[in-house]
Amino acid sequence: MNDLLYVNGGTPLNGTITVRGAKNFVSKAMVASLLGEGPSVLRNVPQIRDVGVVTGLLELHGVKVVADEVAGTLHLDPTDVESAHVADIDAHAGSSRIPILFCGPLLHRLGEAFIPDLGGCRIGDRPINYHLDILRQFGAVVDKREQGIHIRAPRRLQGTKISLPYPSVGATEQLLLTAVRAEGITELSGAAIEPEIMDLIAVLQKMGAIISVDTDRVIRIEGVDKLMGYQHTALGDRIEAASWGSAALATGGDITVKGATQPEMMTFLNTFRKVGGEFEVQEDGIRFYHPGGDLNAIVLETAVHPGFMTDWQQPLVVALTQAKGLSIVHETVYENRFGFTDALRGMGATIQVYKECLGGLPCRFGQRNFHHSAVVSGPTPLSAADIEVPDLRGGFSHLIAALAAKGTSTVRGIGLIDRGYEYFQDKLDALGADVSRG
Ligand code: EPU
Repeated sequence: MNDLLYVNGGTPLNGTITVRGAKNFVSKAMVASLLGEGPSVLRNVPQIRDVGVVTGLLELHGVKVVADEVAGTLHLDPTDVESAHVADIDAHAGSSRIPILFCGPLLHRLGEAFIPDLGGCRIGDRPINYHLDILRQFGAVVDKREQGIHIRAPRRLQGTKISLPYPSVGATEQLLLTAVRAEGITELSGAAIEPEIMDLIAVLQKMGAIISVDTDRVIRIEGVDKLMGYQHTALGDRIEAASWGSAALATGGDITVKGATQPEMMTFLNTFRKVGGEFEVQEDGIRFYHPGGDLNAIVLETAVHPGFMTDWQQPLVVALTQAKGLSIVHETVYENRFGFTDALRGMGATIQVYKECLGGLPCRFGQRNFHHSAVVSGPTPLSAADIEVPDLRGGFSHLIAALAAKGTSTVRGIGLIDRGYEYFQDKLDALGADVSRG
């Protein structure tokens, strides 16, 4: 596949597109199928590269995966789960962060797991210390080797009491996928409570798990001896929906996103309104549009749910380059998520990044030499440029900037965008964008 996209920008994006299941839920629900004694069916699955990577990993472990890509349905049969060859697993090194979540289910099924070096977006260090600590607390033995990490369960994993130093999404999922079949009760405090995690809990409950979620970030799990398969329809991708919303704002357009849902996007919608965008919640989606006139500068801080998602930040920053005045954005989830602004500056945006915590409360990255605050001054016209996609969300933001800019931009490395945005070129075509693969 060609990795180059020519974007002739400067015209508003108008039309209707559909988003399917959330990338950051679907992959975890696929892993959960490993815990069942019977087959599972997952619906509303998007055709994105991350789903392909997890399918490959499941198949290596003996899970039969049958996909109906048009319908978006996956049948996952874990009846014959087996150990995979280290070399085969290692072929997936660097392709995604999901392999780390195979640990709990594999330890229950096989007593051991091997995790290759992880991939994912380069938006910070992205350590896995919380994950390994959790596995150790359940009684697993972790052995770091040159190629990756070997993990063993010398006996049945034991329920435990854990407190997370930060409400990590992945670590909370690690704990859930491990605790449901561990012996006894597990209590997690400081848990992440993102809607994707709630949907994973719904899946696990369908499988037979006993999980309660308190209002104070405490999750309790009573381990059970066996779990069944599940049937589930994935929640919609609120990151993709917000990305298209930001694209409507940045290009002065009008985009209806079918599959977008209000409850999971309330925080985004509030911010969208404050910036000056308008939206209309419909029966089966949300219409995002630029009503004309000036956009407003805002002060914004990213945070864990129910705060403003870090993954919404990058696309919205492009729209903020078109807002009147100084916007301040404080990124508190990842220490290094402003690298994408270099390319925006090259296109004419006025954005300065700072090591200080600007705009709100001090965060854990203050005084630590991370450029994690940004001041965006607008409005500035954007001009076409030659851009290299740095990561998934940053890449989509570059694409939005290119669509807003007059002239023809060349966007390289768009394969990265396929990781999380289903059929994005078809969607751009449907919205009237002038784009072609190089
Ligand atoms: N962290 C640690 N140690 C750990 C785990 C996390 O220090 O062992 C830190 C991270 O470095 C980060 C913070 O905790 O600073 C939060 O990371 P988290 O674990 O919540 O992130 P994740 O589970 O690795 C998922 C999504 C990300 C999304 C974040 C936050 C998936 C596959 N990825 O990552 O999505 O940004 O939660 O909501 O679910 C994306 O879709 O583009 C993306 C990066």
